[in-house]
Amino acid sequence: MKSDLSGFYELTVEERLNKIKKMCSLTNEETEAIGKTGCLSLISSDRMIENVIGTLELPIGIATNFIVNGRDVLIPMAIEEPSVVAGASNAAKLTRPTGFTAKSTEPLMIGQIQLMDAPPGTKEKIYAAKDKIINIANGKDSTLVKLGGGMKNLEVRELPSPRGKITIVHIIVNVQDAMGANAVNTMCECIAPFLEELTGARAVLKIISNLAIYHLAKAEAIWKKEVIGEDIIERILDAYALAQVDPFRCATHNKGIMNGVDAVMIVTGNDFRAAEAGAHAFASINGYKPLTSYTKNNNGDLVGKIEIPMGVGIVGGAINSNPIAKIALKILGIKHANELGEIAACVGLANNFAALRAIVKEGIQRGHMKLHANNIALAAGANHEEAPKVTQEMLKENKISVAYASEILNKLRSKKN
Ligand code: MEV
Repeated sequence: MKSDLSGFYELTVEERLNKIKKMCSLTNEETEAIGKTGCLSLISSDRMIENVIGTLELPIGIATNFIVNGRDVLIPMAIEEPSVVAGASNAAKLTRPTGFTAKSTEPLMIGQIQLMDAPPGTKEKIYAAKDKIINIANGKDSTLVKLGGGMKNLEVRELPSPRGKITIVHIIVNVQDAMGANAVNTMCECIAPFLEELTGARAVLKIISNLAIYHLAKAEAIWKKEVIGEDIIERILDAYALAQVDPFRCATHNKGIMNGVDAVMIVTGNDFRAAEAGAHAFASINGYKPLTSYTKNNNGDLVGKIEIPMGVGIVGGAINSNPIAKIALKILGIKHANELGEIAACVGLANNFAALRAIVKEGIQRGHMKLHANNIALAAGANHEEAPKVTQEMLKENKISVAYASEILNKLRSKKN
């Protein structure tokens, strides 16, 4: 088989799928499954990315119990992993009736223009031409400027590198309710020739930075000692201490946060890779650190906090093309991107708390196993009435396998007859 499929992109979706079917010996069922769509049609998909042959589904669950800044909010989450939606819902329940407080910075994203071979005095020249540069950039996006956004400021940095000194111009752009990559990249590209002319340097990269240090969301919640217990609070603080000093644990700690954040990014059509890149780079600025923090207040309650870059949008990109994204935003009941970022931060904190609490208490596997056992029962042929009984029996005996599920099922059915 050759992967060099010249002209593949010019075929229709159906033609591409048939070609892949033949080349990879897919069965009719497999071909039908991959080409089947939900509410994202093949026509829309074909406009979103290249070489489309189908779409992929993920479960969407609703995280319940959240109060964010005094408002009850239902949070859709798209994720394949069991226990994440339940974990967030449960953590949020334990914060009621107060819930989470959250806030965010202005939606300021950074664009980078890399200059090489910059002559002495480049930095000063760029700062002196700041207004002109802002005018050029904002001339490219009048809609954004009319909405109050656009380029607001610039910074110049200099870094030594294996290829000599690099001068980096950061443009700071208020992207309003968009994620902003298109606007920022366009501005970087249109400023670059002016910077070359102004300084005599050579412009190389012109692109957004996902390390969105000026576009942050912060959230906080209190878990009362009467609700979760003093012993659990101490254990959570122990677990948090390990994440503070050990990158091996910190990676998993932050992964648990991103379980929630990504699930909100995906369901709302946001770029979850950008969220991941931003979060981990932000966590690494002063050595890799947890994105959340935990302390005890004067009452001995647990105070959890999160601070995380949130380059999210509610307009543009996949949000326009994917109908689910719009429905998810409607369920969230939000009007602006900053509210989405704040909610995602709350979910990240909730998932982190839920994971820590489960791990220090009974371990994470019990919750996972419950769902897993149910899937095993279904795989053994149990119907929806039989599955809970089979699951319960497997969990009781701590024997979770298709063979054991079939054995229980046979017994159940023979009793019935
Ligand atoms: C699993 O997806 C996430 C956890 O490993 C997070 C953590 O350990 O804190 C449970």
